[in-house]
Amino acid sequence: MNDTTESGAVPLLNRLRRFPDVEAANLQAWDATDSLLLDTAAEFLPGDGNVTVIGDRYGALTLSLAESQATTTGAVRVHQDLVTGEKALRNNADTLGIGGFEQLPLGPSLLAGARLVVMQLPRTLAELEEAADAVARYAEPDVVLLAGGRIKHMSLGMNDVLARCFEDVKPQLARQKSRVLVARTPKLRTRPLPYPIVEENAELGITVCAHGAVFSGTKLDIGTRFLLTFLPKMASAAHAVDLGCGTGILAAMYARSHPDAQVTATDRSAAAVASATCTVQANGLSGRIRVLQDDAMESLPEASAGLILLNPPFHLGASVHAGAGIKLFEAAARVLEPGGELWTVFNSHLPYLPALERLVGRTTVQGRNTKFTVARSISRGRN
Ligand SMILES: C[S@@+](CC[C@H](N)C(=O)[O-])C[C@H]1O[C@@H](n2cnc3c(N)ncnc32)[C@H](O)[C@@H]1O
Repeated sequence: MNDTTESGAVPLLNRLRRFPDVEAANLQAWDATDSLLLDTAAEFLPGDGNVTVIGDRYGALTLSLAESQATTTGAVRVHQDLVTGEKALRNNADTLGIGGFEQLPLGPSLLAGARLVVMQLPRTLAELEEAADAVARYAEPDVVLLAGGRIKHMSLGMNDVLARCFEDVKPQLARQKSRVLVARTPKLRTRPLPYPIVEENAELGITVCAHGAVFSGTKLDIGTRFLLTFLPKMASAAHAVDLGCGTGILAAMYARSHPDAQVTATDRSAAAVASATCTVQANGLSGRIRVLQDDAMESLPEASAGLILLNPPFHLGASVHAGAGIKLFEAAARVLEPGGELWTVFNSHLPYLPALERLVGRTTVQGRNTKFTVARSISRGRN
């Protein structure tokens, strides 16, 4: 990251870390959008200090605002979807000795009374719609929403989504390939909350629920569909894990086809966990599947699962990075009992087979189609 932004907050930003998220030379804990948002926020800060942050990655926005607000009353409230982002923010706060923030779920407790909302634009329109709807619904009528992003990841659809929730939406001048959209005057909302979306999937015979930020929405991902064709070949485990569960489709389908199994569906995303919880309830599987928000199963004991299902993430935030998958293979190696099975689906061009062999154990290709490979790895145990 270069230091040439105009923000006075750069010294603080440069001390931030992504840990416990994946760290690498080409992955940064803040970007030019954070810096632009902070400079723009300085123009709009309300006198009463009532500021909320949405989508902070590792604390850049929250900690800079908390520090600049240090003499006013009231904590900066923040919602982050990923448990890794929440932990990184707390770690960075401890290192920098900054307090004065509160981490909350998306909803009234986050937004009631808010007069300035500072948001990193999410990747999908659905996630933006859910967040913008919450701001329009719960914040003060004079709230100003500053939504910033990298121009290459922004679309006119984002302006349209904001315009469905706010009377006045204005793009600001761009700086360093980033831009802020300013939205004001919430529209009166009379319709019910659109999220989670609940849909029958006729192909699978289950109901799927999706909050805005969850992978693939209510749709069945094509990689997941391919992995599901191998259900009959999978071991019958007393305890199976759907790792990176998203909406919980894999957990629900495994539980249905293996009536004696207990299943854990786990993801680091709050939206995924809320979606999977809804999917589990909608299919009458509450007694069979527990849903857990966790980073790479870190709260599950070693050697505690007989089978793990995995459609690993391809992206880390906006970057394509193999580290996201590797971290989950390492986690699977820890949590599988010796002889337990890891079933993974991935884009065939990714170099995952040697990594699975090295980290988990004997790995064989079970199937390939034009795009995807499905592999089974047998855990060799860890000694
Ligand atoms: C490709 S999606 C698959 C979702 C779902 N299993 C499906 O097949 O539709 C990958 C999922 O992994 C989750 N994920 C990424 N990194 C994770 C981590 N460190 N710990 C837990 N979940 C993670 C993402 O939030 C995302 O929901």
